[in-house]
Amino acid sequence: MKARATVLCENSIMSNLGAIAEHGWAVFLETDCGNYLFDTGQGKGLLNNARKFKIDLSRIKAILISHHHVDHTGGLLDAVSEAGPVPVYGHPDLFKRESYITRNGKRIQIGVPFVRELLESKGAEFRLNRDWTEIAPRIYMTGEIPRKMPYEKVEEAIRTKNEKGEFIEDPVIDDQALVIEAEKGLFIVLGCAHAGLINTLNYAIERTGKTHIQVIIGGTHLWPVSEEQREKSIEALKSLHIDRIGISHCTGLLPAIRLAQEFGERFFFSNVGSVVEV
Ligand SMILES: [Fe+2]
Ligand SMILES: [Fe+2]
Repeated sequence: MKARATVLCENSIMSNLGAIAEHGWAVFLETDCGNYLFDTGQGKGLLNNARKFKIDLSRIKAILISHHHVDHTGGLLDAVSEAGPVPVYGHPDLFKRESYITRNGKRIQIGVPFVRELLESKGAEFRLNRDWTEIAPRIYMTGEIPRKMPYEKVEEAIRTKNEKGEFIEDPVIDDQALVIEAEKGLFIVLGCAHAGLINTLNYAIERTGKTHIQVIIGGTHLWPVSEEQREKSIEALKSLHIDRIGISHCTGLLPAIRLAQEFGERFFFSNVGSVVEV
């Protein structure tokens, strides 16, 4: 399986005049089995950047959604309007309404900003399930990722509501990643890694039986965690067989510097306009 990924939405941008950055994540994927869109950003950059990079979203085979947060689903209406009728793969929690984050003392809602019926009226054909799913030969969505590493905790600021209406920690159980079995190893596209970076990589290794990771791109969520957790995750990361790691989105700048120190030439920034080929 050969694949080529172009980052359409990310928090930063380097020398791509006319394209824009936003707090979000979306990747256009060309493969031997057709083209796909993984996540859709928060909705400001997707179409603008696709046009800029001459990417035709009307011919994709499916939209793949990592989790329900708006920085990954805010461009879903635009994506479906371009591509529909189109299958949309995700988790049954995709339309969870009770989803919040607290930033700077303010609590805001961060679920999908569209109702399902509107997206369906534009051609979305939802395929929601919790399990490891083969999208095409050698292309998989992980489904729910087992949370095995005791130190990989969920972010405190992300909350949901229980039946009593109380705000409680949200484990974001829908969080999943895309896994491609490429010729020289695994190509893993993370969403936000709310399930834990190491949990996610270990699960991809376990399910595919492949221990060699050729390249990782996406959000590692190493920013809003404790120093202790971050260091443990980085130590575990170093013990895996990874050729290249292209960090993005919710990794954060300081953790990115740490990773750059640890991984040297194997490290790169995967931001708007970055292209990865496997
Ligand atoms: Fe998220
Ligand atoms: Fe995110």
